[in-house]
Amino acid sequence: MAEWIKICGATEVPEPGKVMEADVNGVQICLANLNGELAALDNLCPHRQGPLGQGWIEGEAVICPWHSWAFNLKTGQSEYPAHERVKVFPLKKEGEDVLIDLG
Ligand code: FES
Repeated sequence: MAEWIKICGATEVPEPGKVMEADVNGVQICLANLNGELAALDNLCPHRQGPLGQGWIEGEAVICPWHSWAFNLKTGQSEYPAHERVKVFPLKKEGEDVLIDLG
């Protein structure tokens, strides 16, 4: 069953085309705004734990700032290199808050 936790206020989300880092109960999250649609991914890049929330968006992917691995913001599937993946977490808005389900 989903357990929704506040990740940030609705006015604190990144602008369209931007990413940011967030700490939710000690879990590091990469919060991204893809054309007005929010996405939440595991912040730790599976390569060497680079901070995806300090990266940038290209197309529908967030680019790791350390060695440029790319992860699709909707699926978490890597676009480069193939066969890597980061976890994607459900998000929802409730009133003035943005909530995440860490699963
Ligand atoms: S740590 Fe992310 S690409 Fe190397």
